[in-house]
Amino acid sequence: MPKIIVAIDGYSSCGKSTTAKLVAKQLNYPYIDTGAMYRAVTLYFIQNHISLTNPREIEQALSKVQISFRRHPELGRNDTYLNGLNVEDEIRKMYVSERVSEVSAIAEVRHALVAQQQRMGKTKGIVMDGRDIGTVVFPQAELKIFMTADPLIRAQRRQLELMEKGDIVDLGVVLENLRTRDHIDTNRAESPLRQAEDAIYIDNSFMTLDEQVELVVRLADEQIGLS
Ligand code: DC
Repeated sequence: MPKIIVAIDGYSSCGKSTTAKLVAKQLNYPYIDTGAMYRAVTLYFIQNHISLTNPREIEQALSKVQISFRRHPELGRNDTYLNGLNVEDEIRKMYVSERVSEVSAIAEVRHALVAQQQRMGKTKGIVMDGRDIGTVVFPQAELKIFMTADPLIRAQRRQLELMEKGDIVDLGVVLENLRTRDHIDTNRAESPLRQAEDAIYIDNSFMTLDEQVELVVRLADEQIGLS
C-alpha cells in the first residue's frame, strides 16, 4: 500500500493534535506533534536562562537539545522527551505556553527543528501537525489540512484540557494567550502560519471529534488510492 504524508496545520488549540493522533491511529502511521518540539526547546531555554537575543548562545543551546517521542507504557500516549527526561506534562503548562511563540519565531530554532521533522518523514507514512508542515516542512505532502475554530471555542477547549490536568486558569487568561500566540504565529518573519494553497480548510467549531477524524481519514484514503 502506498504511503502518504498527512500535514495538519492551524491555530493554537483548534483540536489539531487530538484529530491528528486519531487519524494516525486509523491509518496506522506514527504521529508527530511538532508543537511539542517547540515547547520542549522553550522549556530548555527557560530552565537554562538562554538569552533569546544572542544567536551564538541559541546555537550552542540547540546543539545540546535532544527531543524524542516514546510511548507511555501505561497511558498508551506518545510522550515528549527532552534529553532523556519525560517532559510531556511540563511543556503543556502555562509558563511554557507564554514563551513558546517567542522561541518558535527564532530562525535558528526553526531550522534545527524543521530539519529533524523532515528526517522523521523521509519514508512517508506519517501524520504531522503544526503551523508550517504543509508550507515549509513538507510542501509536497499528499494531504494538507488547515484547521481552525472560533477563538472562544478554542479557549474553552484549552481551559478544560488544563483543568483536567489540575491547572485552573481563568478563561480570559487562556483567550488572551491564544490571541497573542495567533498574532505572533501569523505575523512572524520566519515561516508564519498560513494556509497552503492546496490545503483543505476545516472549521471544526461545530463538528464533533468523530466527524473531524472521519473526514480527514476519508481524504487520506482518497490520496492513498491516487498514489
Ligand atoms: O501546537 P501547539 O500550540 O502546542 O504549539 C506551540 C507553539 O509552537 C505555537 O504557539 C507555535 C509553535 N509552533 C510553530 O511555530 N511551528 C510548528 N510547526 C508547531 C508549533
